[in-house]
Amino acid sequence: KRVAILISGGGSNMVKLVESMVGDHPARAVLVGSNDANAAGLKKAAEMGVDTFAVDHRPFKGDREAFQAELLKHLKAAKPDIVCLAGFMRVLTESFVREWDGRMLNIHPSLLPKYKGLHTHARALEAGDTEAGCTVHLVTPALDDGPILGQARVPILPEDDADTLAARVLVQEHKLYPAVLERFARGDTSPLYLG
Ligand code: GRF
Repeated sequence: KRVAILISGGGSNMVKLVESMVGDHPARAVLVGSNDANAAGLKKAAEMGVDTFAVDHRPFKGDREAFQAELLKHLKAAKPDIVCLAGFMRVLTESFVREWDGRMLNIHPSLLPKYKGLHTHARALEAGDTEAGCTVHLVTPALDDGPILGQARVPILPEDDADTLAARVLVQEHKLYPAVLERFARGDTSPLYLG
């Protein structure tokens, strides 16, 4: 299976995904793209020998469809079987999502369905939750709403702030996403629960 990964920043999840696709793994990373030409993850991907591209979303202003058409052009050229969103921070509309129906994954830093959207850790702390985590799900047109493919849980500690909690969750993201991708690439969509 051919896997394309979309990032917006450091790409720590992308690095773990690329590193996992070796040996008898059923998938290989064929492309890493970003909406930001300066995304630090693009350099990391190139250093790992993966082709990269960037489509800056800013010149498109509010024209999401035009931005997505450009993104789609680059993606389709690589003929991916699976697209992984990993720290990709642009909302994708129904037309784009439909192109990858059932084969686009995303990782979200909360225990969905709780805390869809942004600032998930601050919201969990604010709510006085005792646990947090991350979710890998299939991407559907509704934001952070698709079928769950995996989740990992972490405790929230009394002294936590959003940064310490984010760091604890990120460690689990780096374990969860590669494990879920390997199963998904083998055609196994049964949800994986870690911790
Ligand atoms: C992280 O906060 C992660 O929870 C979310 O996107 C952010 C950046 O991830 N998925 P990455 O380091 O760019 O993979």
